Order: sequence, then C-alpha cells, then structure tokens
Amino acid sequence: MLRDAHHRIIDYVRLSVTDRCNLRCTYCMPEHMHFVPSAALLTDQEIITLLEILAGNGISKVRITGGEPFLRPQLLPLLEKIKAIPGINTISITTNGVLTHSYVHDLKALGITKVNLSLDTLQPERFRQITRRPKFDAVMLTLKNLLAHDMQVKINVVVMEDVNTDELLDFTALTAQHPISVRFIEEMPFNGQGHAFSGIRWNYREILQYIRSRYDLYKLSDAPHTTALHYGIPGHQGNIGVIPAYSRTFCGSCNRLRISATGSIKTCLYGTDVLNVRDMLRSNAGAPALLEAVREALQHRAANGFEAEKQLVHLPESMSVIGG
Ligand code: GTP
Ligand code: 5AD
Ligand code: SF4
Repeated sequence: MLRDAHHRIIDYVRLSVTDRCNLRCTYCMPEHMHFVPSAALLTDQEIITLLEILAGNGISKVRITGGEPFLRPQLLPLLEKIKAIPGINTISITTNGVLTHSYVHDLKALGITKVNLSLDTLQPERFRQITRRPKFDAVMLTLKNLLAHDMQVKINVVVMEDVNTDELLDFTALTAQHPISVRFIEEMPFNGQGHAFSGIRWNYREILQYIRSRYDLYKLSDAPHTTALHYGIPGHQGNIGVIPAYSRTFCGSCNRLRISATGSIKTCLYGTDVLNVRDMLRSNAGAPALLEAVREALQHRAANGFEAEKQLVHLPESMSVIGG
C-alpha cells in the first residue's frame, strides 16, 4: 500500500505515454512546442517494470494520458501488457480523438472501455482556432465510433471565456440522446507559454447557473476521489459534470500519482517533479530502491498543494507535459 504523509492512500496513476501532440490547443501549449527526444521517453519495458512495482503495492487504476497517447508507436500492444499486470483492474484513456477512431474496436476487444475525449467546441472553424489544427471531422468520427461500440465516454470541455461559453447548452443537449458525461473544466494556468494567467470568470458556479437557465439539473452522487460534480437532467440518457479545477481544491481526497512520459514523478499537479524513475530504471536500481524512492517522495507531499501553488500567477508548464 502507498500512503502519503497525510494518510491518503495512493491507488491511481496518471501515466503520460508521450509528450507529443498533433493538436496545439491554445490553453495547453504554444504553436512551436519543444518535445523531448524519443530516447528520453520511458520504453515499454520501463513502463511495465514500473507499473508492476506500483501494482504490487496497491496501485489498481491507471489513466493513460499524453500529449496524445495514440501518437506513441505501438500503443495497443503496450496497453495489452499493462492490462495483464496483476492488480491493475481499471485502465482508462484521455485522448484528443484525432487518431482514435481507428483503434476503438481494438480497445473494446482489449476490455478498455473508458475513454475521455477532449473536445471544446462543436463547430469546425472554432475547433481549428482553439486547436490550431483542422481536425474536427476526425474527432467527431472518433465520438461516433465510441458511441457505436458502447464505450463509456466522457467529453472534457475546457471552458474559455469569449471562446466557447456560448456552446455550453449545445454540449448539454448532446446528453439527451447519448449516454455520455460532458464535463466542463475550469481553465487552469498550465498553458506552456509562460505568460501570466489572469484567473477565470466562468467558474463552476457560473457554468451551472447558465446551464440551469435552460435545463433542470439534479445532483447525482459522485464517486469517491472524483474531480467532477455530476448532475442529471430529467429525460436525458447522459449527464453533465463540472470540474472546478481552478477554484476548488481536491487535495483532501487525492489518490493520484503522476508519471510523465520521461519518468518524472509528481505527487501533486501543482508541484514540481520530485523524482525521475527512468534514471533509476536505466541504472538498474532495482525494485526495492525504486519503491523506497516513491515512498520517500510521498512523505514530502504537501497537505494542500493547490493552496500553496495557487499564489503563483506564473505556471509556464504545459498540461501536455504533466499529462492532465
Ligand atoms: P477519472 O478520475 O479516472 O474519471 O479521470 P478523469 O479524466 O475524470 O480525470 P480527472 O477527473 O482526473 O481529470 C479531469 C480534469 O481534472 C483534467 O483536466 C485534470 O487535469 C483535472 N484534474 C485532475 N486531477 C486534478 C487535481 O488533482 N487538481 C486539479 N486542480 N485538477 C485536476
Ligand atoms: N486547463 C484545464 N484543462 C486543461 N486540459 C489541458 N490543458 C488544460 C488547462 N490549461 C485538459 C484537456 C484534457 C485534460 C486531461 O486536461 O482538455 O481533456
Ligand atoms: Fe494536445 Fe491535449 Fe494539449 Fe490539446 S490539450 S494540445 S489535445 S495535449
């Protein structure tokens, strides 16, 4: 069992399998993003060794993130190996959907049915402006294929003032006919561009109030450790959620450990890299030393990293490096 200094049990790993992305979302990274050389990324074997050690010590859930996970060569065989690790009982993926449509069938065959799709607009031209790439049709094809395969789909919508707030009702309307969860995420200052972040006006309360102007919302119960507050709508197959990522702390119930594509470990989204496990794996440090290093890092985990770091107006890191 992995525990931090504040008695929180850590059973969930967010693993970034690549820092690369085929979109350039303005809230996430600049147009000319610097990516690390391939040799710096964890290899499949390093990922498996690491996850085997962690799964042997209580990690049961893995979320695959990026960058865009499907840009990693041979992702499916890697997922198959992760699936086979004893102790890991949930694997889910967060993807931008540009390439994912071709893999939906294979994911389902592997038993990986939880897919979070990042999609901030339902308008093709606006999609091009937000992501700086004309890939709207490919993402919509992914959504269609996911629904056709009865996958458990969550759509992540980053809410941006003066950009997509006029689409909150259109996104909510999607839940009438489809059993999906649309989650509206407050924008966070991880834009990789190093410029100051002036805060948000559209916080989760504003978002809910606006949606309530058109829809009756009733509170659903939320799973433990979730970052989202979920609401149902009478007659709708799906539901909506708001993720108060900027205005509220989830620290009290945080069960997450983040591993970057280069093997850096963060014990908090807002924290610095506390350890690089790739270097340990490459120097054959061995499982006991690696586990000890992770435990040690968790002993230094802040009780509330969110409050400590929110004072900063300058968080130049890109979400694509952190993995969400
Ligand atoms: P599950 O919990 O597995 O359902 O994953 P999920 O995709 O719902 O992911 P999660 O709820 O972890 O993340 C959704 C959004 O919340 C992403 O934009 C994350 O970056 C953000 N998020 C995740 N963890 C934290 C956190 O510890 N603090 C804050 N402020 N935001 C977070
Ligand atoms: N603020 C909020 N959410 C973000 N994401 C990426 N960058 C940001 C940001 N600056 C979201 C993506 C993805 C999830 C993992 O994080 O849209 O769905
Ligand atoms: Fe790529 Fe996701 Fe960042 Fe957009 S938010 S640029 S899809 S990593």
